[in-house]
Amino acid sequence: MNALFINGSPRKNKNTAQMLESAMRGAQEAGAETELINLYDLDYKGCKSCFACQLKNAKTDGVCAIKDDLRPVLEKAHEADVLVIGSPVYFSYPSGMTRSFMERLIFPHFTYDYDEQGNRRRPITEKRTAMIFTMNIPEDALEDWKYPVLLGESAKQMRENFGHSEMLCACYTYQFNDYSRYAVTVFDEADKHRYHDEHFPIDLQKAYDLGKRLVEEK
Ligand SMILES: Cc1cc2nc3c(=O)[nH]c(=O)nc-3n(C[C@H](O)[C@H](O)[C@H](O)COP(=O)(O)O)c2cc1C
Repeated sequence: MNALFINGSPRKNKNTAQMLESAMRGAQEAGAETELINLYDLDYKGCKSCFACQLKNAKTDGVCAIKDDLRPVLEKAHEADVLVIGSPVYFSYPSGMTRSFMERLIFPHFTYDYDEQGNRRRPITEKRTAMIFTMNIPEDALEDWKYPVLLGESAKQMRENFGHSEMLCACYTYQFNDYSRYAVTVFDEADKHRYHDEHFPIDLQKAYDLGKRLVEEK
């Protein structure tokens, strides 16, 4: 049983990374071999629309044909029983690096080829997957900002192409070590600090439980 964790944040020890590390500890507790990959360490681009993966009798076998830094990661993702992708929310969507990764991850599993009964001909590579998002907005603003739909779309694509997907959000994250150095008036640092101390440990526990459960349910 192996579980792969993908960090789509440029920061290797902040909110998204901490949530992923907690999920990883949960997966380890459940007996999985784990690995965490930081996308910002890699040199790659998104899908180039070469359509090698959509050819009749495509030889890509679930892994994008482009040979660059991302390819070994995509091979690992293809083999993984559990795949957890973490991303900060950037302008209401996953970060660009996360989206580029997901284009390359999903398209070789996606298909335009369905039989007369509407069943896809390309078999699904079954995995337990999850998306972990961290963001500035408070939890009670999620619906107003339409994040369950906007962010849920990524989880939906994962579910449709890997058979299972979940989504976990950590809201109102603590963004800087020292707010006094930054021009920020829309957030009250003391309130953010208080919220972080009260809620982030709960979010980390949810991430731990998620990682553990995904492995146990596989
Ligand atoms: C370029 C940029 C865009 C952002 N856009 C949003 C946004 O649209 N909505 C939101 O809630 N937070 C937004 N944020 C805040 C981050 O999502 C949030 O601080 C996140 O927890 C950062 O993750 P990290 O600590 O792993 O880097 C943005 C941050 C950056 C740097």
